[in-house]
Amino acid sequence: MADYTLRIRRYSPETGAAPYWENFDVDLDGHRSVLDGILQAKDRTDGSIGIRCSCRAAICGSCGVRINGRPNLACHTHLDKAAETATDGIITVEPMGNMPVVKDLIVDMDAVHWKKIQRVTPWLIPDGEQPEREYIVPPESMIDVTQTMACIQCGACVSDCLSMEVDPLFIGPAALAKAYRFVGDPRDGQQYERLRNLAEDPHGIYDCTHCFNCIEACPKGVAPMSQIMRLRRIANSDHDIEDRNNGHRHERAFVKNIERNGLLHEADLLPDSYGGKFHPRAVPELARGLPAILKALQRRKVTPGKALLHPHKAPDDVKRIYKHVHEKRERFELNLYVVGKEEDEAEPPQGVAVGHEGTEASASSAGHTPAERSPNR
Ligand code: SF4
Ligand code: SF4
Ligand code: FES
Repeated sequence: MADYTLRIRRYSPETGAAPYWENFDVDLDGHRSVLDGILQAKDRTDGSIGIRCSCRAAICGSCGVRINGRPNLACHTHLDKAAETATDGIITVEPMGNMPVVKDLIVDMDAVHWKKIQRVTPWLIPDGEQPEREYIVPPESMIDVTQTMACIQCGACVSDCLSMEVDPLFIGPAALAKAYRFVGDPRDGQQYERLRNLAEDPHGIYDCTHCFNCIEACPKGVAPMSQIMRLRRIANSDHDIEDRNNGHRHERAFVKNIERNGLLHEADLLPDSYGGKFHPRAVPELARGLPAILKALQRRKVTPGKALLHPHKAPDDVKRIYKHVHEKRERFELNLYVVGKEEDEAEPPQGVAVGHEGTEASASSAGHTPAERSPNR
């Protein structure tokens, strides 16, 4: 009897035939990977199965697929673990989403993923004279961007990005994480220009809906959504970039709304985002939202009383949190990927030598506690 069964989605667009599912039995131990299973099926049963792979060690990022409906690296998923999450004991393997299928499990990364990476100018643009030798930067700065440098460009986050599903032009989680890698690098001289560009783009940093899918999907802990939030924070707090998408004002209105009401008062949020109910910018937006408002009233999802007179006031706990944050003189952010030095650990050296290509020397200190303060955010 076979150890595991893989149900693979087969599709060859050029044949004109519809996609279909095909089962393959594999004889492998549970600690072997789903990729090993696919390769065994390809070797023993059907050599035409399309799968892209190279390193088989979660390094090259080429074997991204959906396993039991969730994106992952086929070489980084054990058969026994995959079988546990399979609904009927059969492990389903299908191509990643949001990208066109080339054949079976192979998607066209050039058409979507790499195009978006190019969009964010993925190289350093240093200011001024190059130093005679290497750039010397504070170690904390490199720790801060190390998280994004861990990306292996597998596309798993792109596969399940909900915003990209709705708006295929959205720059997307992987490319925006890449953008943070350069925005957060102290050697880059174009921080403001990069941020303005990403804020003004209607498919840029304010197009993310915080669904967390990219954080869950990423096999390398890059947490693309967190990098997008960092881009927004620097654009807002450090550069005060007022974008034409109203993203900055919307975020500010959101924060003030919670501060005032404790719970989100939706009826105020939209007008506040545009400068108040009677602001010329708010009127067309409110008019555009009128059909949805009327429908909500009709279905009693909201009553005029509740909409206009929000019954909640911020409780003391919320006020205390806001007071605590307002009293901070500088922004404090925890980088939860690279956690900081132990209390009794020796002081780090004054600078870390970093090569022109951005390969850091000893900045990464994963595995330590407690969390490290991010330096320049
Ligand atoms: S959090 Fe944002 S970038 Fe990440 S998957 Fe969701 S919408 Fe996409
Ligand atoms: S951010 Fe994570 S999931 Fe997205 S491409 Fe990079 S490694 Fe893959
Ligand atoms: S084969 Fe390289 S990451 Fe899976």
